[in-house]
Amino acid sequence: MNHRLHHDGKNGWVGKTQYWKDAVVYQVYPASFKDSNGDGWGDIPGVISELDYLRDLGVDVVWLSPMFESPQKDMGYDISDYQAVYSRYGSLADLDKLISSCHERNMKLILDLVVNHTSDEHPWFKESRSSKTNPKRDWYIWKPARYDSDGNRIPPTNWRSYFAGPTWTWDDNTEEYYLHLYGSFQPDLNWENPSCREAIYQDTMRFWLARGVDGFRIDTVNKYSKRTDFPDAPITFPGEPNQPAAEMWCNGPRIHEFIREMQAKVLTPYNHALSVGELSNTPLPSQVLPYVSAANRELDMVFEFSMIRLGTGGAFQDKYLYQPYPLSQLKAHVATWQTFLEGTDAWHTVFCENHDNGRAVSRFGDTSSHQNWERSAKAICLWQATLTGTLFLYQGQEIGMVNMPREWGIQEYKDCESMGFYQEAVASGDPDRISKTMDGLRILARDHARLPFQWDDSTNAGFTSERAVPWMRVHDSAFEGLNVNRQREDEESVLGFYKTVLKLRKKYGELLIHGAFRHLLPEDEALFVYVKEGAESGRKALVLLNFSREEQDLSTRQLSVAGTLGCEESQEATLLITTLREGERPGIESPEQLKPWEGRVYVNFVEEA
Ligand code: NOJ
Repeated sequence: MNHRLHHDGKNGWVGKTQYWKDAVVYQVYPASFKDSNGDGWGDIPGVISELDYLRDLGVDVVWLSPMFESPQKDMGYDISDYQAVYSRYGSLADLDKLISSCHERNMKLILDLVVNHTSDEHPWFKESRSSKTNPKRDWYIWKPARYDSDGNRIPPTNWRSYFAGPTWTWDDNTEEYYLHLYGSFQPDLNWENPSCREAIYQDTMRFWLARGVDGFRIDTVNKYSKRTDFPDAPITFPGEPNQPAAEMWCNGPRIHEFIREMQAKVLTPYNHALSVGELSNTPLPSQVLPYVSAANRELDMVFEFSMIRLGTGGAFQDKYLYQPYPLSQLKAHVATWQTFLEGTDAWHTVFCENHDNGRAVSRFGDTSSHQNWERSAKAICLWQATLTGTLFLYQGQEIGMVNMPREWGIQEYKDCESMGFYQEAVASGDPDRISKTMDGLRILARDHARLPFQWDDSTNAGFTSERAVPWMRVHDSAFEGLNVNRQREDEESVLGFYKTVLKLRKKYGELLIHGAFRHLLPEDEALFVYVKEGAESGRKALVLLNFSREEQDLSTRQLSVAGTLGCEESQEATLLITTLREGERPGIESPEQLKPWEGRVYVNFVEEA
């Protein structure tokens, strides 16, 4: 059976309009993936050179993080020209070649759509800030100052921005503040203005769809509509000038109208281009459903962040003050988002890494030894690949890439968010806060996922030439064999395991991609156990994941494999896959014993050839 989607060689998957449900999407962070010209910065020709690698892995859709013209203050999430490629990434011709190279391999390409804000160097903003009467003045959000009781000028509201500091910056030229939910270099576009919306649709979306891209990962999709009465946020951090204020600018009054308009005017006319929205600060299924219910015609799916934010102290002031959490909490989040779409016409994503978070194996797995690293990286693979929804992988996840070494100092962290929080801690003068912030960054910082990709054992790990200076330091103490070249030849490596499991995911898609999720032992703090059930066939899979470094015994939990799968006495449950290497398997005859960080899947049917 051919598990690949059948592509017509141009721009469509034949007979499968919702191909994206079964697809494996792979996020490429271009600065860190592969450098083809030795300048220490990844580029599009580098991505093209590894498309066969991605195809062999089982990838159907490539999501390319921003490669547009940008001052790169937030790694391209600050765009100064939506229609140009940043020169270190290559040219427009290179991007066209990437589109056709993906299509030749029956793969699709989606780009990052960053239209909540632009760079302050975008011509639209330069015009907007030039005078109060400029026609583009209202394309951004400008407000007059307020004054406190002592006559000091203060911002229009007390809202805190993502990267620390206020959401408002004073502009001397026209003597007003402009709004920016992120850095001061990322002014927010004013979606209330219809000509601004039309320019977004035309210049940023249709431009790329017409060139052949297949859709977008849509940045900050729920922040386009703000409350237009601009109230102060309630005080949650007494004494601080800037307060968390997500309810003032997230999921605002017109958000569904705006997204429906974008779908109807742009995405639907382009062959229902794929849309996956970044939906932060929206932790309730009842809030998420309207965005992804098919009948609402908004988005195909969204990223919801409750699970991936585990360990953070909160979205704002406390973000990097690490909070330990029990496994049961992680499982509860997964269970919520696995079951919320039951009985609805909605769809969802599955992911545990992206460019904004620490590496999964360093957070949810175990890097205390080589064996634990390898086993837990595979357990994470099995966990993700057996969940319902579209599976998203982040570059390097498939070889078990880990966080930067703990001993690396703050000088190795380049991200504007890490800098904002670290500098804020330093400014507080509180040594305890500085050290706790540093501790949090060591686990959670966005920088970890941005380290150069590890292709081989050479200096610079094959990311760039040996003489080049990579833009971020290459991991120098990762585990033996933590690179593509070493794992490529070994079917039992993390990479080999991903390839095997991604094939199984497609082969048993009714269960693994689409099946109903039933959570077992939700309070257990070592085991993650669930059943996936096919809707039509009565087939079941039992997924057993040991999320601990101790051996675990199912029989002490009154759980039997055959019983859970409803197997008749004469019929054995079939072991579909285990994370263990061949040589580690003696004892597997006892389905009730799980080795440290072992994962297994049993099914209630005989495996097909
Ligand atoms: C979310 C992106 O994933 C992140 O990297 C970026 O900093 C913000 N949006 C602002 O665009």
